[in-house]
Amino acid sequence: MLANKHIALGITGGISVYKMCTVVRLLKKAGAQVRVIITPSATEFVSPLTFSTLSQEEVVVSLWPENKRSSTSLGVKHIDIGLWADVMLIAPATANTIAHLAHGYAEDILGTTVLALRCPLIISPAMDIDMWENEATQDNLTTLQSRGHFIIPPESGELASGLSGMGRLPEPETIVQFVDDILDKTPRDLKKKKILITAGPTHEPIDPVRFIGNRSSGKMGFALANAAALRGAEVTLISGPVSLATPKNVKRIDVETAEEMFKAVMTNAKKQDVIIMSAAVADYAPASTAKEKIKKKESELSLQLRSTQDILKALGEKKTKKQILVGFALETTNELEHAKEKLKKKNLDLIVLNSTKDKGAAFGVDTNIVTLIDAKGTITKFPKMPKFDVAVEILDKIITL
Ligand code: CTP
Repeated sequence: MLANKHIALGITGGISVYKMCTVVRLLKKAGAQVRVIITPSATEFVSPLTFSTLSQEEVVVSLWPENKRSSTSLGVKHIDIGLWADVMLIAPATANTIAHLAHGYAEDILGTTVLALRCPLIISPAMDIDMWENEATQDNLTTLQSRGHFIIPPESGELASGLSGMGRLPEPETIVQFVDDILDKTPRDLKKKKILITAGPTHEPIDPVRFIGNRSSGKMGFALANAAALRGAEVTLISGPVSLATPKNVKRIDVETAEEMFKAVMTNAKKQDVIIMSAAVADYAPASTAKEKIKKKESELSLQLRSTQDILKALGEKKTKKQILVGFALETTNELEHAKEKLKKKNLDLIVLNSTKDKGAAFGVDTNIVTLIDAKGTITKFPKMPKFDVAVEILDKIITL
């Protein structure tokens, strides 16, 4: 995947900077073009000249041009690299850099380049074990991951401090393989395609403080939105109440109830090439919502429920010939049979069957186990995979359709 690819490489200050010489050599050997951005503290470990020699490109150290009297390249270097890159790798990424990236700091060339980036960003943290385990670092990494960036997990072993544990920068071959994998999973094959994705649960209000909801976290739908946007699609993400950051280059519309989701989907449906309903839409909502908080009574409380509109079914009835409609199915018995029935009943092109029986599938977790069934009856089963990889498989299948 690396041949002729443009790799922006951010190098920040840590003892493992020396490993990056081999990373640049391996990337060059695989046919990639590499432009290095190095922070002042990283230059304390290896000189920019080494990276310039290995990459055969000028190494960028500062946001400002060397000739301060010339303004021709002033303030555009970061935009230029951001547009040029097919993928950006930051390795080693220090705890300080990770904190700055998580909060969108734009005080140097690395921060500004990341903010202006349009391609996948891979971060390879390296630090001492206590810094790695610190909640602040872990929270920052979670933030970056939920924005759709990729983290190469550090390795465990002897650290520069003399301590032993997690925090080592992986070997150059592992890092290069990771970059290759991300390029493989993010081809620009959905450029100009309009994709609508729904995600998360819906909340159906009982009174001003209570609602009926479900356990959907929205992670599968958000992974789909991220994967599609990284492949160049124009993504609209209609989300129920979730606590997830919006992936980059995704237009997000927040809704709360099944009715609001129905309206938002229908308003946006016509112009879409692909619609993926991964939201766990409530099938029932309270027949009426109490205006004031319902007070506790001695006796039992009964709630009258009304059924909500089936959004997917309505989409299937209106589907144009060119449009691809994808649904999800969550079953506990006769899984394949029920999923096939839903595919037919709702006039779908593809249905994604979630397993509820296996650990590491469906609600809340970062992995999923799915089976894809298309309208011709072709069944493809997948093992347990990260939700991003499941999203990649679903999009690959949609492209064949
Ligand atoms: N769905 C929808 N509108 C609803 C309910 C579900 O668009 N009111 C969509 C979901 O987003 C999913 C698919 O329909 O893509 C299947 O949802 P699921 O709950 O598994 O099936 P239901 O049709 O609701 O049937 P049941 O709950 O009886 O299995």
